Amino acid sequence: MLIRPTSTDEADALAAVHRSAFGADLEADLARALILDDAYVPSLSFAAEEGGKLIGHVLFTRAWLNRDDGMPGFPLLLLAPLSVVPGSQREGIGTVLVEAAITLARDGGEIAMLVFGDPAFYGRFGFVAAGPSGIRPPHPAEPEWGWQVLELAEGILGAPGTLKVAAPLDSPEMWRE
Ligand SMILES: CC(C)(COP(=O)(O)OP(=O)(O)OC[C@H]1O[C@@H](n2cnc3c(N)ncnc32)[C@H](O)[C@@H]1OP(=O)(O)O)[C@@H](O)C(=O)NCCC(=O)NCCS
Repeated sequence: MLIRPTSTDEADALAAVHRSAFGADLEADLARALILDDAYVPSLSFAAEEGGKLIGHVLFTRAWLNRDDGMPGFPLLLLAPLSVVPGSQREGIGTVLVEAAITLARDGGEIAMLVFGDPAFYGRFGFVAAGPSGIRPPHPAEPEWGWQVLELAEGILGAPGTLKVAAPLDSPEMWRE
């Protein structure tokens, strides 16, 4: 199994990974739209490949914390979506993809990343409930406990505000389980 960076001309193949994992077009269409969006962070898009076949993908987009106190905000990262195809799940691939991105983001001086997902999976990386940090999603997260933050450097906790996200993520349906 190979973990490698991706290129934007793979958007359709990567979208197919998400369609297979989620069994729906929503996340596949989201992944394709995000890959083509200005907020896409290509350096943090990792694919898992086996025998020349794509079996997993994680991508991040740039998000911005608009602080409640009017002070300059923070550039943050939003993890979404993450997928591993059904036949390859529970083999550690999702974990390796996220760990690769966390390492690179931390080394690159990123402040924090956020995710709307299952704490049973994301807790292993150090993600914690984002509520106490005061960082609110652009739309109400349902369930609220799915909204999580991983601090990569000092400075984000204690600066309440609302996250501004890429247009494809900026609709209420993206924040419901
Ligand atoms: C969630 C997902 C990305 C995890 O990738 P993976 O390669 O299967 O995960 P790993 O093998 O690295 O880790 C497995 C562990 O994660 C947890 N886990 C896996 N899938 C999970 C899920 N859907 N919900 C909660 N926990 C999950 C389990 O605790 C599992 O540990 P176990 O095997 O000891 O029970 C993958 O299962 C997937 O694509 N699912 C469908 C799409 C999806 O729900 N994506 C989540 C985006 S927030």
